[in-house]
Amino acid sequence: MDNFATSKRTNLDHLIGVEAFDPMEGDIRETADCERAMKGVNVVVHLAALGSVPRSIADPISSHAVNLGGFLNVLQAARTAGVQRFVFASSSSVYGDSTELPKREENIGKPLSPYAITKYGNEVYARLFHRLHGMRTIGLRFFNVFGERQDPEGPYAAAIPRFIKAFLAHSSPQIYGDGLQSRDFTYVANAVEAVQKAVVCADERAFGQVFNVAYGSRVTLLELVDALRNALVSIDPAVAGVKAEHAPERGGDIRDSLADITKARDVLGFGPKVDLQQGLDRAIPWYVANWG
Ligand SMILES: NC(=O)c1ccc[n+]([C@@H]2O[C@H](COP(=O)([O-])OP(=O)(O)OC[C@H]3O[C@@H](n4cnc5c(N)ncnc54)[C@H](O)[C@@H]3O)[C@@H](O)[C@H]2O)c1
Repeated sequence: MDNFATSKRTNLDHLIGVEAFDPMEGDIRETADCERAMKGVNVVVHLAALGSVPRSIADPISSHAVNLGGFLNVLQAARTAGVQRFVFASSSSVYGDSTELPKREENIGKPLSPYAITKYGNEVYARLFHRLHGMRTIGLRFFNVFGERQDPEGPYAAAIPRFIKAFLAHSSPQIYGDGLQSRDFTYVANAVEAVQKAVVCADERAFGQVFNVAYGSRVTLLELVDALRNALVSIDPAVAGVKAEHAPERGGDIRDSLADITKARDVLGFGPKVDLQQGLDRAIPWYVANWG
């Protein structure tokens, strides 16, 4: 179910005709839509949300309504329908102002944005529904996921698609701050693997819990820009001369991010297979074909 608030229907083109694919247009803020979506469902993977820290700072009311109010609607509809497993997207943003590296599930700081509050709220509700109602919830704290079809346009686009689009247009990728902030960029196939493990393999030890989902290594934004330039230069030699530009730092962002993925390895059997470079090698051809 999706209301396509922040995504394109064409992202689903490759699934049309696949027998098991049964899309439904609906809004998680509407309880009736959530109830309709639960018909005949054993397992819920709840990913719908308004992404982006800056979006939530600009419009906290909408982020709250979708990410927290909508989450509760989906959770309650799943409970009422007797759904057997509820896997949901949390976020590395819940680590907030904690400076500990690598980030471990049990040590979080104070939230730095409304978005982080909503994701932390999801975790708290899920844990409570596990405790009160025995619901089999599993939270996945995704770290900076990237890959094909991620939108490079608009004020809330993620760094990797935004930088690739800029390079392909020979305009300077814009870095907020000094570029020395670091991220554990995670190729989407790794995130999908974690979802599959949570749906298929996880047992009692995982229910009511949250898990870091990341590759488990970090680069600075300056290193990321270099890696992108190097990857793109063989496709478009003019990219060699494109330099990054610095804009003022943005509020709400975590300075450094690196996941300890031991818990997901031990409990879910998660083992990410695609590192940053391999992920960029897979994603870039799609951007060249669609935005080059
Ligand atoms: N991409 C990342 O780096 C990242 C990192 C941490 C957490 N997450 C979380 O993972 C999940 C998936 O992220 P993504 O990057 O695929 O984001 P996305 O924006 O591509 O997907 C979210 C989807 O939710 C839909 N949606 C928004 N409001 C809705 C509503 N009211 N009703 C129904 N659908 C609605 C959007 O149209 C979109 O298709 C989100 O919950 C996000 O917060 C993502």
